[in-house]
Amino acid sequence: MDKLLIQGGTALSGEVAISGAKNAALPILCASLLTAEPLHFTNVPRLKDISTMMRLLGDMGVGVTLDGIDGLVLDGGGLNNPVASYEMVKTMRAAILVLGPLVARGGEARVSLPGGCAIGARPVDQHIKGLQAMGAEITVEQGYVHAKATRLRGARICTDMVTVTGTENLMMAACLADGETIIENAAREPEVVDLANCLVSMGARISGAGTAVIRIQGVDQLHGATHAIMPDRIETGTYLCAAAATGGDVRLLKTSAAYLDAVVDKLMDAGCEITVERDAIRLVAPPRLKAVSLRTAPYPAFPTDMQAQFMAINCIADGVATIRETIFENRFMHANELARLGADIQIEGSNAIVRGVDHLEGATVMATDLRASASLVIAGLVARGETLIDRIYHLDRGYEHIEEKLSKLGALVRRVH
Ligand code: EPZ
Repeated sequence: MDKLLIQGGTALSGEVAISGAKNAALPILCASLLTAEPLHFTNVPRLKDISTMMRLLGDMGVGVTLDGIDGLVLDGGGLNNPVASYEMVKTMRAAILVLGPLVARGGEARVSLPGGCAIGARPVDQHIKGLQAMGAEITVEQGYVHAKATRLRGARICTDMVTVTGTENLMMAACLADGETIIENAAREPEVVDLANCLVSMGARISGAGTAVIRIQGVDQLHGATHAIMPDRIETGTYLCAAAATGGDVRLLKTSAAYLDAVVDKLMDAGCEITVERDAIRLVAPPRLKAVSLRTAPYPAFPTDMQAQFMAINCIADGVATIRETIFENRFMHANELARLGADIQIEGSNAIVRGVDHLEGATVMATDLRASASLVIAGLVARGETLIDRIYHLDRGYEHIEEKLSKLGALVRRVH
């Protein structure tokens, strides 16, 4: 099992390019199930989750052709197998995103329930409720969701809570339904908007993406299109935190601060100087960060996917910070590992109280989930001595070429097998 060995203490500096957004690419790849014509994608990140999704779509009969370093052509014309097996889904929960498109295009789907994961139970009841409202007959048997529909019909759906992939699943299904669908309490994340933009370029009729009410006028069929995946705002935020923690000065390219207001505000509160350009963002860190409290919530509030990274920077900041996690029920597992590096963190329910210490000491730690691994990398970069991070397959799910990018910024990091 691969490990990451980090020699801490170097201030990151220089420039690095940000990859395409994992959480935009995953639903957008599933849009290939909605049309018999080829879709051409660019700026697709080469990540474990993306290759898993390509394999899943390939198993269903979608033609998958890599095109250069970040291109991909998907051809849904050969769709012949509406099944997403447990073996596939258990490694990547986002596989649930094939459910809506399969029912909408082919009238049938058999998708394994994702099951829980390290950060929470992760139910998909809202996905099911919404499809039932659109006329799908759904049963859940032997851990699989069986869905059937002659043709989905438009409906007014209000999800019980804001759900990103729930909104995406229902929006994709509604594109081919008969009539108008209104999704209320919709997720406003930029990745939802990127998916909507791709669907519209395929001939879908969608308005309101990015707001809490999305309206979709169903059409009979969608056609092929070309789409560039948006930059990954969470990868961007992660490298900004790494630069902030190490007292660095970095400029991130092929990205934008447009979708990171809440994160940029907190980094500025911590004392960082941020310069925003059209497709780049620069951060100059202060000699010592100030502790910043935060509360995660759906977009445009502070993203839960940046909570672990901010916990890491608060570990060595000046002061005490309270971090409140409101989205997932078990997303503080990085706290125990950070404590092994000398952090002072107290967990009280959905609150973490972080008391800044003047330095961390390198140690062996274990990654438990994707963003927890990122927080351990940040802590390792600033800790004295060596930090060895185990189970970094979690990292590879969401960060493309992480050791190359960090090395380019001057970090002393290497992968050990
Ligand atoms: C998406 O997960 C992201 N994944 C997650 O990123 C992200 O943390 C999350 O949104 C929140 O922003 C992708 O986009 C592929 P939710 P998703 O449905 O859609 C509850 C990462 O690190 N809920 O918005 O699965 C759920 O349990 C990953 O890149 C239900 O109860 O999250 C959670 O408490 C981690 N029933 C809350 O809603 C449902 O049917 C929000 O979940 C759906 C969700």
